[in-house]
Amino acid sequence: MDYITIALAKGRLAKTALAMFEQIGITCEEMKVPDSRKLIFTNEELKIRFFLAKANDVPTYVEYGAADIGVVGKDTILEEGRKLYEVLDLKFGACKMCVAGPEEAREKLRHGELIRVASKYPHIAKDYFYNRKHQTVEIIKLNGSVELAPIVGLSEVIVDIVETGSTLKENGLVVLEEICPLSARVVVNQVSMKMENERITKMISDLRDVLMTKA
Ligand code: PRP
Repeated sequence: MDYITIALAKGRLAKTALAMFEQIGITCEEMKVPDSRKLIFTNEELKIRFFLAKANDVPTYVEYGAADIGVVGKDTILEEGRKLYEVLDLKFGACKMCVAGPEEAREKLRHGELIRVASKYPHIAKDYFYNRKHQTVEIIKLNGSVELAPIVGLSEVIVDIVETGSTLKENGLVVLEEICPLSARVVVNQVSMKMENERITKMISDLRDVLMTKA
């Protein structure tokens, strides 16, 4: 039997995802070693491997089949635009992709002025403004702390994740438009889905059962 390889986005998401896999009987004791720098963990009995990758790289590993399955945020799936199957919404990590900025930017947005939009998610921002709103904007890619951009005058607005809203609030910014809801998703390599259909389908339906009992 071949190994099924599961890529998890490093960080908060990985912890919750692992807890869900534990609930369906897929455990990896090795992964619980505190402060370990190890990146790949194997359950020999079940022939399952987990590895931790940067969130943005998870869809890449899955598209190329280096991982059969991935657990990653919808934001990353949308931004990366890889060829894969999104098969399950795990519901945790729920937040929203939004256009945010100072209250004054609302009018400029409404009148379709040529504004600058800073974001860690240039593809999502572009798709939203160009394809959904048919509004021409200038998109500036940043790598983090995007809320700074409108404060220091780099852009009029930002496209970013809003969870509790406290980062915006503390920086005097507000949500101006909601783009889409986000949460953790399970993605599957298109070939693996055919080759390992039985094992993968079972895993997905077990995860779905866990979600049902929670709901
Ligand atoms: C994310 C996001 C916002 C913040 C939203 O940043 O980019 O800055 O969380 O959360 P809130 O609505 O609960 O305040 P993250 O912590 O991932 O770091 P980053 O700024 O480096 O992107």
